[in-house]
Amino acid sequence: MPSLSLPYEDRPVLVLGATGTLGAELCRQRPDEVVGLDRRRVDLRRWRQVRQVLWQLRPQAVIHAAAATDVDWCQRHPRECFAVNAFSVAVVAEVCRRLDVPLVYISSSFVFGQQSAHGPWHETHRPCPGNAYARSKLLGEQYARSCPRHLIVRTCGLFHHRPSRRRGFVQSILTQAALGRRVRVVRDQWANPTYVPELVRALWFLLQSCRQGRTAWGTYHVVNGPAVTWYEFARELVQAAGFDVPVEPIRSEQFPAVAPRPRFAVLATQKYAQTGGPAMSPWPQALARCLHQLRNRAGQAPLPLCPGADGTEQAAAVI
Ligand SMILES: NC(=O)c1ccc[n+]([C@@H]2O[C@H](COP(=O)([O-])OP(=O)(O)OC[C@H]3O[C@@H](n4cnc5c(N)ncnc54)[C@H](OP(=O)(O)O)[C@@H]3O)[C@@H](O)[C@H]2O)c1
Repeated sequence: MPSLSLPYEDRPVLVLGATGTLGAELCRQRPDEVVGLDRRRVDLRRWRQVRQVLWQLRPQAVIHAAAATDVDWCQRHPRECFAVNAFSVAVVAEVCRRLDVPLVYISSSFVFGQQSAHGPWHETHRPCPGNAYARSKLLGEQYARSCPRHLIVRTCGLFHHRPSRRRGFVQSILTQAALGRRVRVVRDQWANPTYVPELVRALWFLLQSCRQGRTAWGTYHVVNGPAVTWYEFARELVQAAGFDVPVEPIRSEQFPAVAPRPRFAVLATQKYAQTGGPAMSPWPQALARCLHQLRNRAGQAPLPLCPGADGTEQAAAVI
């Protein structure tokens, strides 16, 4: 780990959650500027350890991309969920404030989660979380704001050709399709499926632009558009991947989930667009790029089954 004596500009940007889908891509895009730490190096539930690591590393910025992201697990384990998603942010924000370095906290469209509420949501709208995960993310946001130079980036429905150990939506659907099974997906939940490599480019832009004083610190929504239901997204995915299996729309009530999901977790992105940051493509284009990468990685065809595919009938829960 770099020492305290490094000059400010040579210090790394610290990425927390480096084994996650987003964290790994953050490290991949800027390998020379970043130190990525995983749970083995710093367990975010151990606050003394978190403080120690931050003071030892003295990064020039921290990107908090770690989270308990299994929404149903969070509903069953609220204490652990809040420890990682919220209270660890308080600790990180306090050290960032004392070190006078910026903090980037990744949040979720789920903070606008109540069933009856409709978007698209702007940064100025009042959040209305509808489950434990969403409440923990909202509290995490509030803690992140205690660091004077903060960016809170809300996003939605991440997909990547390189998912983390947790299966993503794309991999779950492709697994079902590759097994020749019908795919059943909710038709009454709207979202912005967001391609991680594009989100990461936007994150790096925002951090740099804020540090150069060209963009204001604060909260931004960064997603691919336009809004789509998970059913429509899955149908396009299965078709684009060349599978011939039925994709059936179901209602949320037919999906066995512990935590209620938002019906309309759709974010408005005008504020980000005004920063002049890298454009976020329409999701069909981003999805085509993701599938292209998957094919390349699999040596053209067939598309890879994800490890741990268990053949469950319904799509994985999405956040
Ligand atoms: N995935 C989505 O669709 C989505 C949508 C909106 C917002 N977000 C937000 O985007 C961020 C990144 O999500 P993601 O999809 O990349 O998540 P992910 O793939 O599930 O990765 C989560 C990361 O957090 C780490 N982590 C969890 N508990 C930890 C602990 N106690 N100590 C240290 N590290 C811990 C994990 O480490 P291990 O590998 O060791 O478990 C992993 O590196 C999160 O803030 C999430 O809330 C995600």
